[in-house]
Amino acid sequence: MGFGGGHYWSGGPSSSQANTAAGLPFSGIPTEMADRARELLEEEPEHPEPVVEFSHKQPKVRSLTLRGFLAPYKPQLTLACLLVILETLALQSGPMLTQIGIDHGVLPRRFGVLFVLGMIFLAAVLLQILTGYARTVFTGRLGERLLYDLRVRVFSHLQRLSLNFYTEEKAGVLMTRMTSDIETLTLLFQEGLVNIAVQSLTLLVITIVLFVYNPVLASVTVIVVIPTTFVLSIWFRRRSDVGYTKVRDKIAAVLSDLQESLSGIRIITAHNRHKRNTVIHRDIVGEHEDANMDTARVNTAYGSLTEGVGIIGQAFMLLVGGWMVINADLTVGELTAFSLYLVMFFAPIQSIVQLYNAYQQGQASIKKLRSFLEEPPSVPEAEDAPDLATIEGSIILEDVSFGYSDDAPVLHNINLEISPGESLAVVGPTGAGKSTIAKLIVRFYDPQSGRVSIDGQDVRDVTLESLRRQLGVVPQEPFLFNGSIGENVAFAQPDASEEEIWEACRTVGLDTMVSRLPDGLDTPCHERGVSLSSGERQLLALARAFLAQPRVLVLDEATSNLDSHSEKKIEEALDAVLKGRTAIIIAHRLTTAMRADRIAVIHGGQIAEIGSHADLMAEGGHYAAMHQIQGDILRKEHG
Ligand SMILES: Nc1ncnc2c1ncn2[C@@H]1O[C@H](COP(=O)(O)OP(=O)(O)OP(=O)(O)O)[C@@H](O)[C@H]1O
Ligand SMILES: [Mg+2]
Repeated sequence: MGFGGGHYWSGGPSSSQANTAAGLPFSGIPTEMADRARELLEEEPEHPEPVVEFSHKQPKVRSLTLRGFLAPYKPQLTLACLLVILETLALQSGPMLTQIGIDHGVLPRRFGVLFVLGMIFLAAVLLQILTGYARTVFTGRLGERLLYDLRVRVFSHLQRLSLNFYTEEKAGVLMTRMTSDIETLTLLFQEGLVNIAVQSLTLLVITIVLFVYNPVLASVTVIVVIPTTFVLSIWFRRRSDVGYTKVRDKIAAVLSDLQESLSGIRIITAHNRHKRNTVIHRDIVGEHEDANMDTARVNTAYGSLTEGVGIIGQAFMLLVGGWMVINADLTVGELTAFSLYLVMFFAPIQSIVQLYNAYQQGQASIKKLRSFLEEPPSVPEAEDAPDLATIEGSIILEDVSFGYSDDAPVLHNINLEISPGESLAVVGPTGAGKSTIAKLIVRFYDPQSGRVSIDGQDVRDVTLESLRRQLGVVPQEPFLFNGSIGENVAFAQPDASEEEIWEACRTVGLDTMVSRLPDGLDTPCHERGVSLSSGERQLLALARAFLAQPRVLVLDEATSNLDSHSEKKIEEALDAVLKGRTAIIIAHRLTTAMRADRIAVIHGGQIAEIGSHADLMAEGGHYAAMHQIQGDILRKEHG
C-alpha cells in the first residue's frame, strides 16, 4: 500500500507516536525529514501551514461594501491614484506637443524645437507605459486578493448555514453566487474602478484644454456633441441594465439545469428522458443566447451612434475652426490639437458608460452576496455557548412540535425519554416523521416549540461542534466524497490511523469487500458513491460512524439496503457497538426493531405506542398489526 493521498496518514504527533509505538506505519512527516521541514519553516516563516478558522458563529457582518473592502488598502490606493494622474497627463500631452511642434517648429522651420519636443513626447510615452504597467499590476493583485477573500468568506458561510437553506436554494444558483457574481466583482476591481477614474480624469483634462485653447470653438463643439451623446447614453444605460440583469438570470438558469442533469443522469437514463432533457436544455441555453445577443445589439448600436456623433462633431469643428484659422483667430497647430483632442474626447465617454454597466453589475453582485452573507443560520449557536461536556447519553424530548414549514406540521407534542445506554427503535409508516425526530435530536433543525435536551442540557445552549462530536449519525442516504475508501471511512476522524480504519471496517463487515479491492483502503470511490452498491455504501457509512466512537448513535434505516445475511452480521456488530451507548434506531424491518430495548411507534406525528416488543404485542395496537403483516409477507416469501 502506498503512502500517497490518504489524509489519515497525516495525523498529529500523538497518533504518529502511538503508531510508531505500536510498530505501525508512521503518520505525519517522517522523522528523517522532520528536521529539514523545520529548517525550511525557519527560513521561510512566511509559508507556514495555512490557517483555517471556522466558527459556527456568524461574524459581525463587516458590511460588504466597496468602501469597506478598500479601507485597508488606503496607502496603495493613494499610490494608484497618483499613478493614474501621471498616466493620464502623460497620455494627454500628445496633441498639445503636436500643437507646439506645428506652431513653433514646423511653420517657423526650427528643427531644434522639433527635436526637443520629440524627446519630450518620447519621455511622455515611456512614462505612460511605465505608470500604466505599475497601475495594472497593482489593481490586478487587488482584484485577486478580493476574489480569494470573498471565495473563502462565501464558502465558510455556506458551511455555516443550516440544512433548510439547502432545501430551498438550488445548487445551481449557489454556484452562480460563487462563480459569476464574484467574478463580476473582481473584474470591476481589476479594471473597472481605476478605468472609471482614468477616463473621468481624461474627460476633465480634455475639456479644460479645449476651453483654454479657444473658448468659442470649444463651446460650439460642446453644444453639438454633448446633448446628443447624453441622450444616447441615457438610452443605452436603461436598455443595457435590463439586458444584463436578464443575462445574469439566464446564466443561473443554465447552471441550475446543468447541475440537475448531471446529478440526475442515472434517473434520466432509466426513464429515457435524454431527448426531452436535451430539448429543455436547448431552450434554456437559447434564452441565454437571446439575452446575450440583445445586449450585444445594444452595445453595437450605442458604439456606432456615438462614433457617428463624433464624426459629425469633428466635421463641424473643422468647418468653424478652419474659418477661424483663415481669419487668424486660431493657429494651424491649435486646430490640429483640437481635432486630435476631440477624437480622444469620445473614447472616455463611451468607456465610462460601458464601465457604468460593469459598476452596476458589480453593485448588483455585491447586493446579492451581501444578502447571502447576512442570511443567518436557522440553527444558530448561542452567544458564548459552552462546550457540551462528555455526556452519559440521556435524551429527552419535551412537548416537541415541529414542521419544516409553519403551515405543514410534522410532529405534534412529542414526549420521549431515552436513558443512557438504552436503545430505542422508532417505527411507523412512510412519511410519519421518523427521520425528522432523528434530525431534531442531532439539531439539524430546531423545534417550533418544546425542547430537546441531552444530559439535561438544552441542545440549543451548547456549541454545535461539541454536540455533534458526541452524536453519530448514519443517514438514510449516505453520501460518499471524492477520495479513497479509507478517507471516506475516516471522514469524521481524519487523524485516525490505518489500523483504526481497518478495525471499523471489520466491525461492520466491510473488510472482506475492501481487501478484495486492488488498492484496499486506497481504492478511490467517487461522489455519491457510484462505484459502490447501496448496501456497501451503508456499511461504509456505519463504519464512518463507528470510527468516531460517539456516545449516542442515530441510525436511520441503516440496514434497509442489506441482504438478510449482511443484515444479520450487522445486527451482531450493532449489538457489540451499541453496548453502553444510547442508540436511536429507525427501522422499517421489525426484525431490526425487535432487538432494541424499547420500540416507539410514530403515527400521525405523535407517539402512538411505546414499550418493549412483548408489551406492544400484548397491547394489540399498530405495532401488533404491523408485525402481523410483515410476518405474513415473510412466511409467503419463504414458502
Ligand atoms: N426537508 C424537508 N422539507 C420539507 N418537508 C420535509 C422535509 N423532509 C421531510 N419532509 C416532510 O416531513 C414529513 C416526515 O418526513 P420524514 O422524513 O421524517 O419521514 P419518515 O418517517 O422518516 O419516512 P420514511 O420512512 O419514508 O423515511 C414528510 O411528510 C415529508 O414530506
Ligand atoms: Mg426516513
